Amino acid sequence: MSMDTTHKLLFLLLLLSSNLLTFFLFSSSPPTTTIQPPPSGTDLPPEFLAFTSPQSLPFGHNPNFDSSTLYPPVGHPCTLFLSDLRRFSTYPINGSCPDDELLAQKLLLRGCEPLPRRRCRPASPPDFPEPSPLPLSLWSTPPDSSVHWTPYSCKSFSCLIARKHLPAFDDCKDCFDLSGRELSRWVTPSSNPLDFTIDHVLSSKPPGTIRIGLDIGGGSGTFAVRMKERNVTIITTSMNLNGPFNSFIASRGVVPMYVSVSQRLPFFDNTLDIVHSMHVLSNWIPTTLLHFIVFDVYRVLRPGGIFWLDHFFFVEEQMEEYVGVIESVGFLKVKWVLGRKLDRGPELREMYISALLEKPLKNSW
Ligand SMILES: *[C@@H]1O[C@H](CO)[C@@H](O)[C@H](O)[C@H]1NC(C)=O
Ligand SMILES: *[C@@H]1O[C@H](CO)[C@@H](O)[C@H](O)[C@H]1NC(C)=O
Repeated sequence: MSMDTTHKLLFLLLLLSSNLLTFFLFSSSPPTTTIQPPPSGTDLPPEFLAFTSPQSLPFGHNPNFDSSTLYPPVGHPCTLFLSDLRRFSTYPINGSCPDDELLAQKLLLRGCEPLPRRRCRPASPPDFPEPSPLPLSLWSTPPDSSVHWTPYSCKSFSCLIARKHLPAFDDCKDCFDLSGRELSRWVTPSSNPLDFTIDHVLSSKPPGTIRIGLDIGGGSGTFAVRMKERNVTIITTSMNLNGPFNSFIASRGVVPMYVSVSQRLPFFDNTLDIVHSMHVLSNWIPTTLLHFIVFDVYRVLRPGGIFWLDHFFFVEEQMEEYVGVIESVGFLKVKWVLGRKLDRGPELREMYISALLEKPLKNSW
């Protein structure tokens, strides 16, 4: 079966199962076909139902909602993972939440996003220190006591910094070392044409007109920090894949946002000056999802805004497919650099694209 067919089937399955769920959640009769046994209302955890059940607005019909009822949202797939959902939704109301970030993140990454809200206090470090003041915080490693370490194999920043020397794979392995590679990223000119500098990118637009933006999958937040040093406000999305990425980004004094690449970007149309993404948008993402993501980036960029696609990687045979996806969206190519990715050996025929893509200033619709 070709990759494409597999993707189509998976997508169909997802569509079917979410339609089934909608059907199930909003009707009392049993579904006519089953992909997998649908949960029955009584199987769903009471706190999940308490949050997601329709709630009447106290003042009745609201013209903005065009309804008298609120339906608090969670990701459709939440109910596909019933035993995990049950664990997540079982906790002492008004008390301390279970120490379960790993479970929450797993649910979220599988599509239970947004996660249901809970009525409990999250696990947190007992002796949280005041953060370092700006601008010192931008390049400071915070004290270990600022992090709740349970979900991570490392239990200290010295361990996170040292792991770049270890053979085992970890996401953004050298990102916690602020005196290492992070120092030169996007600022030190390089002979590799795939590496653009921030100053070069900013100079592609009139001075000062890049003011706000987003870094998708921004590791330890260095892109946002470098932009802050240039008075540009960047929000950094990140997961916490075996490391306290969100806590670390926040400790530096830039804003982390905990959303996966699957979720619609929480920004209004035509608002951001720049969207950057390095390494995260790549061939591990199903092509249909990627198509939706690139359109979403286009949506949130203002006319004339810049999408800096930084080291997008794939294998040579996939080139036509990915170039087709990117080109279908309507960006102007300000800069487009193709190169070989050689770190895992040339025989893998891996490629990179680094590009500056501009949403047209006029007639972008
Ligand atoms: C939690 O607090 C709310 C608000 O005070 C209260 O109505 C509710 O009974 C409490 N629930 C439990 C289980 O303690
Ligand atoms: C950033 O803004 C501050 C305050 O307006 C200004 O003093 C500083 O020169 C600006 N820095 C840059 C790199 O533009």
